Amino acid sequence: MLKFNDSGKFGILLFGDLHEKYDYAQSPNFRDMQKMMNAALDRYRPDICVLLGDIFSTGRCREDPGEYERAIAAICAPASRRNIPVYCIMGNHEHDPEYDEEILASFSRLDCAVMRSEGVPGKADFKELIYSRDGKTPLACLWFLDSNNLCEDGSVSHYDYVHTDQIEWFERESEKLKEPGGGKPMPSYIFQHIPVPEEYRLLRKPKFYELPVSVRGYNSLSKNRYVAADGTEGYVGEGPCSPDFNNGQFESWKKTGGVVAAFFGHDHLNDFSGTVDGIFLAQHKTAGFRAYTDGCRCCVRYVEIPESNPSGFTQELTHFKEFGLECECLGPVFKRITDRQSMMLHTAGKVLGAAAALSAGSYIIYKLKNR
Ligand SMILES: [Fe+2]
Ligand SMILES: [Fe+2]
Repeated sequence: MLKFNDSGKFGILLFGDLHEKYDYAQSPNFRDMQKMMNAALDRYRPDICVLLGDIFSTGRCREDPGEYERAIAAICAPASRRNIPVYCIMGNHEHDPEYDEEILASFSRLDCAVMRSEGVPGKADFKELIYSRDGKTPLACLWFLDSNNLCEDGSVSHYDYVHTDQIEWFERESEKLKEPGGGKPMPSYIFQHIPVPEEYRLLRKPKFYELPVSVRGYNSLSKNRYVAADGTEGYVGEGPCSPDFNNGQFESWKKTGGVVAAFFGHDHLNDFSGTVDGIFLAQHKTAGFRAYTDGCRCCVRYVEIPESNPSGFTQELTHFKEFGLECECLGPVFKRITDRQSMMLHTAGKVLGAAAALSAGSYIIYKLKNR
């Protein structure tokens, strides 16, 4: 049972896509990730941790399920040592073909980490209530939702989304949680891997002088460029990789009424957040050093819910460097780079590449003409 702690708060520490690998025992990348996990756990002393999916990049647990369980236990070790439960959600990479059942079975055997299916069969959708300090009254609900893998019909969307039967389960359960008699919705917090398309409402088209720091939209939106809209906080490092098709999940949250905030993984560079139609949406970049990232800018987010007002949470981001940690796995340049510099270097590299290709092409044409 989750309860508000003795200080009348409930703390949640969030980690974006780790994409860990099975060489973790010898890997400096893994050691750096664990350094930040330890530092964040010491600083925030949360009540739970949440891993926002894409915990692994490979499907090798089919060969040895025991190895997968050992790897999850190794990742969660800093939290387990402190008796802090780790809640996990399915990312698209946990959904690699015919992988889901083994993943769910592995979690049922693990003490240190939680993932289960309690809604649509086979989908890792589940919820957890947070009770008052005396354990008598549920005051808030945490929802861990499964946003699936790639869309079955690629002409509809590249990435998949939370399906209609899953949304219906969420609505039915939300209805049951309404305050008996009063009918007031329970304050709800969503944790999900693939972001809803409404994240784009936290962005806007850039002015011409903002083009160098703008990002290209994802897939069906790739003709557009974006920067953070007014009121959006944090860093926009890539176009959010949400589904191309909107299945109405966000509208369902608005309809049920209790959703206060939703936290997403999946994008490895973005850590922006803001409010859309009264619901706080927050993106989490990777909290490790395995996925593509920008120097030491990987980060964690801490969310704190007060018992006195379970809809009135606070949250903050802390990056690897801000913990005062020394990175072992990156070279001298990437160790010092900031996310914005990383993006500028990427853009400059593309411009230089294009200029070099143009010069080489002109030189070849000149040579051919003057043979
Ligand atoms: Fe992902
Ligand atoms: Fe990922």
